[in-house]
Amino acid sequence: MKIKIEHIPVMPKEVIKFLNIKKNGVYVDGTLGSGGHCQMIAQLLNKKGKIIGIDQDIEAIKFAKKKLAAFKNSIKYVNDNFVNFESILDKLKIKKVDGVLLDLGVSSHHLENPERGFSFRESKENLDSEIDMRMNQSQSLSAYDVLNKYQEDELKNILFNFGEEPYAGQIAKKIVQIRKKHPIVTINDLLSVIKLATPPKYRFSRKYGYYASKVFRGIRMEVNQELLVLQKVIPQIVNRLKKGGRLIIISFHSLEDRIVKQSFREMASAKIVKLPFKKPLTPSKKEIIKNPKASSAKLRVFIKYN
Ligand SMILES: C[S@@+](CC[C@H](N)C(=O)[O-])C[C@H]1O[C@@H](n2cnc3c(N)ncnc32)[C@H](O)[C@@H]1O
Repeated sequence: MKIKIEHIPVMPKEVIKFLNIKKNGVYVDGTLGSGGHCQMIAQLLNKKGKIIGIDQDIEAIKFAKKKLAAFKNSIKYVNDNFVNFESILDKLKIKKVDGVLLDLGVSSHHLENPERGFSFRESKENLDSEIDMRMNQSQSLSAYDVLNKYQEDELKNILFNFGEEPYAGQIAKKIVQIRKKHPIVTINDLLSVIKLATPPKYRFSRKYGYYASKVFRGIRMEVNQELLVLQKVIPQIVNRLKKGGRLIIISFHSLEDRIVKQSFREMASAKIVKLPFKKPLTPSKKEIIKNPKASSAKLRVFIKYN
C-alpha cells in the first residue's frame, strides 16, 4: 500500500512557536504521519540538532523517510508506539529532550485509503473494503474482532464513551443480532447495521454530524487503545524533558483533551510543569476553511520546571 494522500499539518504556526525550537536541540515527533510537522522542525535545526520521528504505522515511516530525505542526517525514524517513549529514548541513548509533539489520532492516509478500513465514505470502492482500523498493521486486534467478538455491553460502552453516540445501546444490540446471521466484515456491513438501529431523522440531521462518524471513531479508539496510550505516555515524556523543555499535545476528542488537561493540572500543582495558557488553543477560522479536518483540534502546552 502506497500513501497517496498527504496529511496537512494542524496548527503549524502554533506548534513551531510553542516548541520554541533551539537550533541544536533534540526533539521528538511522536506522531510522524506524513512528516509535515517534522519537516518544519527539521528545517529549523542545525547540524547538531536532532529529531526522532515515531510512528506505529510502518507506511507512515516509509513515506516520511522519502519525503524528508533531505534531512536524513537530522532525523532518526522509529517504528513503534509512542507509549514506549522512555524505552525508545533509552535504546537511542538519549536522556533528555528539548521538546516533544503529539498530534493525536489518525492521518489522512488512514482515512483516504479504503484498504485500511477506517473510512465510512459511501463510495463503491470503500463500501466493499474490510473494516480494519489498525494504525499498526502488525497488531492482532482489529475492528473485525471488536465488532464480532465483543459482548453487547462492551460494545455499548465503547460506542457511548469513545464515540459519544446517542444510539449506542440500539447499535450494540443490532450488531449482536446481525452477527448471529453473518459476521460484520465490510464497511457496508457496519453502515447497514447503523442504518437499521437508528431513526432516519437522526441519520439525516446535520446537527449530529455524519451519522456513522461517531460509531467509526469509537471503534477506532478501542482498536488502537488511544486513550490508554495517551494516559501512559504523558508522565514518561515529562520525565524526559529538559528544564524548560516543551510538550505540545494536539487532541481531537473531548476525552483525549480531558486526559491532557487533568495531567496538566496535577503536574502543575506539583510544580513539575507550568502552562503558558490555561485554555487550549484552537485553529483559526482561516485554517479550518483550508483544512476542515483541523476543526476539532485543541492544542495544549506543558513547560517543564526542572
Ligand atoms: C494526525 S497524524 C500526524 C500527522 C503529522 N503531524 C503530519 O504533519 O503529517 C497521527 C499519526 O500518528 C500515528 N500514531 C497515532 N497514535 C500513535 C501511537 N500511539 N504511537 C505511534 N504512532 C501513533 C498515526 O499512525 C499517524 O500516522
